[in-house]
Amino acid sequence: MVTALKERKTVDMTVPLNRQIQSENILTVKNLEIFYGEKRAVNGISMDIEKNSVTALIGPSGCGKSTFLRSINRMNDLIPGARAEGEILYEELNILSEDINVVALRKEIGMVFQKPNPFPKSIYGNIAPALKFAGINKKSKLDDIVEESLRKAALWDEVKDRLHKSALSLSGGQQQRLCIARTIAMKPTVILLDEPSSALDPISNAKVEDLIVDLKKDYSIIIVTHNMQQASRISDKTAFFLSGDLIEYDKTEKIFTNPSVQKTEEYISGRFG
Ligand SMILES: Nc1ncnc2c1ncn2[C@@H]1O[C@H](COP(=O)(O)OP(=O)(O)OP(=O)(O)O)[C@@H](O)[C@H]1O
Ligand SMILES: [Mg+2]
Repeated sequence: MVTALKERKTVDMTVPLNRQIQSENILTVKNLEIFYGEKRAVNGISMDIEKNSVTALIGPSGCGKSTFLRSINRMNDLIPGARAEGEILYEELNILSEDINVVALRKEIGMVFQKPNPFPKSIYGNIAPALKFAGINKKSKLDDIVEESLRKAALWDEVKDRLHKSALSLSGGQQQRLCIARTIAMKPTVILLDEPSSALDPISNAKVEDLIVDLKKDYSIIIVTHNMQQASRISDKTAFFLSGDLIEYDKTEKIFTNPSVQKTEEYISGRFG
């Protein structure tokens, strides 16, 4: 149960915390405001995030996409002066509550960043230590989870013969898939991706896009992207942000073919941003 996030101080990876979620929405955001000191960066937004779908967040630079994304797994806690008001319900639990175990939360709601950031360790060593920390010590079990995660991240075939070689010897696109594998290994429910393929070449980008579409079978995915084609190719719903406001949120097809708000139309057709 998700409520275990409140009670558990250490995470037992052998027990799935959240598989009983019944609603078709994995997250419900209510009147979310996010401040950096006195400055408000997100202005009271409300939206539902559907389970097993890809939700794209688009909008010009500085409109609050990353700020919003980081609030979903409490990464803004790491920024001095940042605070959030309102609610983000994960099942029925408000994950903005002070008594949330944020370490457990970040395992359930994992995040992948713009720049691939593998640890300067082996490929295997990028995935296994967090599992050990979570209490999985048996080598065969660790091996299994490492393989399963790399398979799900569509990287296994490329690295199976070099698991103990440095992760830094991988290409950028492979490193990003390794970072996705590292996130998957923690058995998350939600994966947050902040411009995950903007630093990649077109072939690596295509692989990451295919992977994201494939992953939505098992996970709910929220992706920030500046690439309109990417948003329209891979997402089910798209949210358009402007100056901290959620201007329009609808099925991706609708947003890109017949948006309801003129500002959305202007943005997607490249007239500003
Ligand atoms: N750590 C921070 N401290 C203070 N202000 C911040 C911080 N991070 C972001 N901001 C401000 O919050 C607003 C939203 O920034 P955010 O990074 O969320 O935008 P974004 O939509 O992700 O932009 P981009 O597309 O350039 O990544 C901006 O005005 C930005 O200057
Ligand atoms: Mg950003």
